[in-house]
Amino acid sequence: MNSPPIQGLLSSLSRLFTSFVDMVGISSSVYMLDRNAAETRRLNSQHRFLVDLSNLIHPSIPKDQLTAVADLGTGTGIWLEDVADLLPNKSVYLHGFDISSSQYPPHHKIQRPGQNPIPLSVHNALAPFPAEHRGRYDLVHIRLLTAGLKQADYIRVLTNARALLKPNGWIQWEEVDHTSFCTDAVPEPEVITRLRECVIEAMLKLGLWPFAPQRVFDEISACGFTDVVRETYTTSGREHLRHIAREWVAGVMRALVPPCMVASSQAQNIKQARELTEQLVREFEVHCETATALVNFGVTVGRKVS
Ligand SMILES: C[S@@+](CC[C@H](N)C(=O)[O-])C[C@H]1O[C@@H](n2cnc3c(N)ncnc32)[C@H](O)[C@@H]1O
Repeated sequence: MNSPPIQGLLSSLSRLFTSFVDMVGISSSVYMLDRNAAETRRLNSQHRFLVDLSNLIHPSIPKDQLTAVADLGTGTGIWLEDVADLLPNKSVYLHGFDISSSQYPPHHKIQRPGQNPIPLSVHNALAPFPAEHRGRYDLVHIRLLTAGLKQADYIRVLTNARALLKPNGWIQWEEVDHTSFCTDAVPEPEVITRLRECVIEAMLKLGLWPFAPQRVFDEISACGFTDVVRETYTTSGREHLRHIAREWVAGVMRALVPPCMVASSQAQNIKQARELTEQLVREFEVHCETATALVNFGVTVGRKVS
């Protein structure tokens, strides 16, 4: 649970740091990003970038055998929408879950011409899922929950995700390493160090965990999965991703750094933090005209031991 000073901080930043008490009252969680229209657009373009950088579904998962797929922390549901187009078996059952419906389409359904809509439910992944969903899915996907998970939460999310799987079902959990935001320039400009350290410091202060890909791999390896594979996809040397990597990192920084600056007392309020961040991000963007923004995207895949 949060310590008293951190609880005080959270309440004074109520719009940015929303705290939730989960359905069974066993935990609270913090989420560092906004949930407005701009964030919806950012999530959707982020999806295109991440799929370009990696794969929608990892090659070790047999796509033609998937009949039911769940996405936890689904956001706008964009990953499921693409999965619906990709899977050879068009009658596959898809379901999205998120702690908030703020970024869901109307009626909490993704409409697909000539096919069943994809249902989206509100559910905190820290709480066990309703019985009707347990043991139902061949694949459970999780992407970018880092901004909302405290260290001890990873194992709880994984346990709940595992319960959704059929025997031999697959998990695919994808996270960005926040400690690796840098460029290929040597020596590193001060602005990059400052932006990165600000995020790491605030995440640790709030009990969040900036080294997510390693944590996910460790938990999946230790928690009843086999055929565990970890891949790290990087923008290094991928010239066609250079422009989009710059835009993506700048977008992440604009979203993440202002609340981090307030949390680590580098700014007095969110307005000041946004102004300071904007100056730093502009410097970063200029620097990236001659350097490549490096992104390390970690994907861990495993199969549930039956
Ligand atoms: C950065 S967004 C990523 C959305 C989506 N996975 C994607 O990659 O496009 C993180 C999402 O996780 C959701 N989230 C955070 N904590 C959660 C929790 N404990 N249970 C379920 N969803 C959560 C947020 O509401 C948000 O929609």
